[in-house]
Amino acid sequence: MIARLVVAAIALALAFFVDIPEAGAEYADVVINKQAEKNGMRPVVFPHWFHRIRFRCKVCHAELGFKMRAGANDVTMAAIIDGKFCGACHNNDIAWSVEKCDLCHSGKRGLPSGIYGGHETSGPGRW
Ligand code: HEC
Ligand code: HEC
Ligand code: HEC
Repeated sequence: MIARLVVAAIALALAFFVDIPEAGAEYADVVINKQAEKNGMRPVVFPHWFHRIRFRCKVCHAELGFKMRAGANDVTMAAIIDGKFCGACHNNDIAWSVEKCDLCHSGKRGLPSGIYGGHETSGPGRW
């Protein structure tokens, strides 16, 4: 019984570790790779729908100043750590914090900025 549990726990842990590196982009994810790879980090995969169902559009697209176009934003880590862009929430308060580099920088190397999986909202007034 105990042995079984241990095996299950190890399998789970492995699944977890195998999953984290090099995540591909999924349906309607936005890859942000204007500066990441140039600066030695893997591209950022931003799960747009995961966030859209939790927050109003205007939180990010008005208050936080994200332009509604994939690849249109100039985001630096300094700004994020300063509480701007992703850092308004990823601050150990609303969501986990910036030290978890790999959770954001999870893209395969070489992925260009853009939307993956086909659901493009086509911009203001058309979603
Ligand atoms: C909450 C999400 C998130 C986390 C966590 C995160 N980053 Fe980033 N990071 C971004 C985004 C978004 C960009 C902009 C990417 C682009 O435009 O290519 C970025 C850009 C960068 C850049 C290039 C721009 C610059 O400022 O030099 C570097 C280097 C970087 N991150 C390093 C890190 C390191 C190291 C960590 C962990 C200590 C980390 N990041 C954690 C989201 C994150
Ligand atoms: C948690 C923050 C956040 C929320 C909430 C959010 N977005 Fe976004 N949105 C982003 C980011 C980040 C990008 C990518 C910007 C980039 O690539 O530079 C983006 C990209 C977009 C784009 C361009 C890509 C595409 O799919 O065509 C559109 C349009 C868009 N958002 C519309 C919306 C709408 C409509 C809502 C509400 C239903 C919404 N967003 C909610 C952060 C957010
Ligand atoms: C308005 C608040 C807000 C902003 C802005 C925001 N996030 Fe998040 N994000 C969240 C919350 C809340 C979660 C869920 C955290 C949890 O499960 O503990 C989350 C989860 C995530 C996840 C994990 C999704 C999953 O499947 O579990 C990733 C990756 C992520 N955010 C990346 C980003 C990046 C990159 C940016 C900036 C481009 C960003 N977030 C901006 C609130 C935000």
